Amino acid sequence: MYPVCHWIMLVSITDGQAGQARVRLSDCHNTADFRELARRRLPAPLFHYIDGGADDELSLARNVAAFDAVDLVPRVLAGIDEINLTTTVLGQKLGLPLFYSPTAMQRLFHHEGERAIASVASEFDTLFGLSTIGTRSIEEMGNYDAPKLFQLYVHEDPALTRDLVSRCRDAGFDALALTVDTVVAGNRERDYRTGFTTPLRLTPRSLLSFASHPRWSLNYLLRERFDLPNVSRYISAGSSVAASVMEYIDSQMKTAIDWDDAAAIIEQWGGPFAIKGLVSPDDARRAVDVGATAIMISNHGGRQLDGTVAPFDQVKAIRDEVGKDIEIIVDGGVRRGTDVIKALAAGADCCAGGRFYLYALAAAGAHGVRRATQLLRDELVRDMRLMGVGHISDLDASHLRWRHTHD
Ligand SMILES: Cc1cc2nc3c(=O)[nH]c(=O)nc-3n(C[C@H](O)[C@H](O)[C@H](O)COP(=O)(O)O)c2cc1C
Repeated sequence: MYPVCHWIMLVSITDGQAGQARVRLSDCHNTADFRELARRRLPAPLFHYIDGGADDELSLARNVAAFDAVDLVPRVLAGIDEINLTTTVLGQKLGLPLFYSPTAMQRLFHHEGERAIASVASEFDTLFGLSTIGTRSIEEMGNYDAPKLFQLYVHEDPALTRDLVSRCRDAGFDALALTVDTVVAGNRERDYRTGFTTPLRLTPRSLLSFASHPRWSLNYLLRERFDLPNVSRYISAGSSVAASVMEYIDSQMKTAIDWDDAAAIIEQWGGPFAIKGLVSPDDARRAVDVGATAIMISNHGGRQLDGTVAPFDQVKAIRDEVGKDIEIIVDGGVRRGTDVIKALAAGADCCAGGRFYLYALAAAGAHGVRRATQLLRDELVRDMRLMGVGHISDLDASHLRWRHTHD
């Protein structure tokens, strides 16, 4: 470990933006712009941790491309005045049909981390997710008044899993999401190349990257110490002992979880419950059978099994299978308001996403997340008017034209 004064010396002689045109928050008009600003503001290991996927990143790309393979069919002269974007999922009425999926390590992307997401969620009346390997505690995040969901990973240690569920109840969380696509870690090759670990491990290469991002580095060094407070009382890996996220998952998660485990957690929790990370209509039916309130159709943003079908491409088949028996949330690849409209027209109740707000968090903390969310909200309102549809619940398959057939 290098001493703090060493870091400060290094960061003071290095300029991470050298030779690059200046980009400000006000220059960001879409997710791609936030991504570019995040790329400039973050040391490489962190940017690639957010941006990357598993193996050849086929699912990562396909999640986004799936939306482009469907065309919108607007109606005209529809006399639309008011636009209503509200939807109800997991017992919460949301002001937007889009929420912040749970993501790990947010404090590393910006020192405001989860606090920024929760406060902007309450401004937009939407829901935020806190990851099991989040960087703020269940107890602290329970104090925010936005609707809140805790994302549960089933650990090998059953006491830890039970403890997390009861802490969520005590802290006033509204819903639980059980992530089921991460029984082992996906093969995230970018993380091997950058050597990303938590806490950050310094190598000559990563040191250069941290040193060339002085603002980020000083915030990391001088603000609250990095921790994974929801698990660190049980597990030192990732909190006080450096480990990659892949090492953490492979050493700590219970590999052989099954539907009985899901049913037992649903029973212990007794409230709104989502199963996150399924893409198969058969699994969606089983989620109904075990009593889940919602499913999050997701492949973990292309970070787990590469080659998994895109969530958007499964919406219609899953809705056909489950009818109205369960709420459907589409998670993955959402970058535009029109993506949300397409997902809702295909049969979803709501969308969720990670990178659209993580790039913005990395770019400018709460200001960034607020701007990214406002831009998407504005897109949704504009696009609904252009679609000739006033209420999102009136979107249906007649507003879509698929370029490939759905059997
Ligand atoms: C940096 C990062 C960390 C993530 N951490 C978690 C996590 O701890 N638990 C989880 O269930 N999903 C996690 N996810 C997946 C997201 O919840 C979500 O499924 C995914 O980001 C959706 O794809 P999108 O980024 O294209 O919107 C993470 C995603 C990213 C990008």
